[in-house]
Amino acid sequence: MEIIKHIDEMQKRQEALRLKGLRLAFVPTMGFLHKGHESLLIEGKKRADDLTLSIFVNPTQFGQNEDLSTYPRNIEGDLAIAERNGVDAVFLPDAKEIYREGSQTFVNLDILPNYLCGLSRPGHFRGVATVVTKLFNIVKPHVAIFGSKDFQQLAIIRQMTKDLNFDIEIVGAPTFREPDGLAMSSRNSYLTAEQRQTALCLIKSLQNAADLVKNGETDPETLIRHATAIIASFPDTAVDYLTVCDPVTLETVSHITGPVLFAMAVKVGVTRLIDNMTIEP
Ligand code: PAJ
Repeated sequence: MEIIKHIDEMQKRQEALRLKGLRLAFVPTMGFLHKGHESLLIEGKKRADDLTLSIFVNPTQFGQNEDLSTYPRNIEGDLAIAERNGVDAVFLPDAKEIYREGSQTFVNLDILPNYLCGLSRPGHFRGVATVVTKLFNIVKPHVAIFGSKDFQQLAIIRQMTKDLNFDIEIVGAPTFREPDGLAMSSRNSYLTAEQRQTALCLIKSLQNAADLVKNGETDPETLIRHATAIIASFPDTAVDYLTVCDPVTLETVSHITGPVLFAMAVKVGVTRLIDNMTIEP
């Protein structure tokens, strides 16, 4: 497994493999890898001849009061997971390598960031779209794999890929969960044992919403009211948002007639957790 820290070296490697006719897969991450990330690596392995993983805690997608400085890191553990999953190259740049002095170009989407997480994290998706664009130009993949846990991010990357004509297949992978249903996340490591139990309020309220819809409920407000009550029944929780929306446009829906996305962000203590489920009548 190659470990590459510099952009030009990464680009040269990828170009050489392309000239040989190999199909290249890419999984971008911020590290502190868990089974959710691993599921993306397994998917990437299946879909190409060569797999690159990037590990880069991207400063431009963190807000002023967010957890950039405390974001969990474990490079040794990450490299062991990468090796175990047959990763061929790990791109491991530092922030100075990615953001050269004097750079002035950013990637901004007009509409999709104006919903869900974009509302409470201004600038977040500008940082994500910009770094993913840069990583695409550095890694030059044929296929890139993203998780549905970050549903809005996936929607934004699909839209950006279309708008900017990136010749890259974007694959969305399902959310990988702990046995009790909690969506895996690097940020779960912030939770105390008690908060870890409380964090189940997200999946419980999503499952409840799915059950309501299965039993004929078509009013998004009813789903949201039930979810609010379930979350409030757990200690130390605060809802950031609960939204029933169109899975493509992310616009809120007023009546459930087809598949909808139920998406939420909930603070458990100081840790902000997100989860979502696509629900069909
Ligand atoms: P990070 O949070 O490390 O996530 C990297 C990838 O793993 C993303 O595509 C995310 O959706 C996916 N992922 C996280 N938890 C998952 C789970 N439980 N099941 C399935 N997939 C999961 O997302 C980012 O990093 C960054 O924003 C990045 C795209 C790398 C840009 O900086």
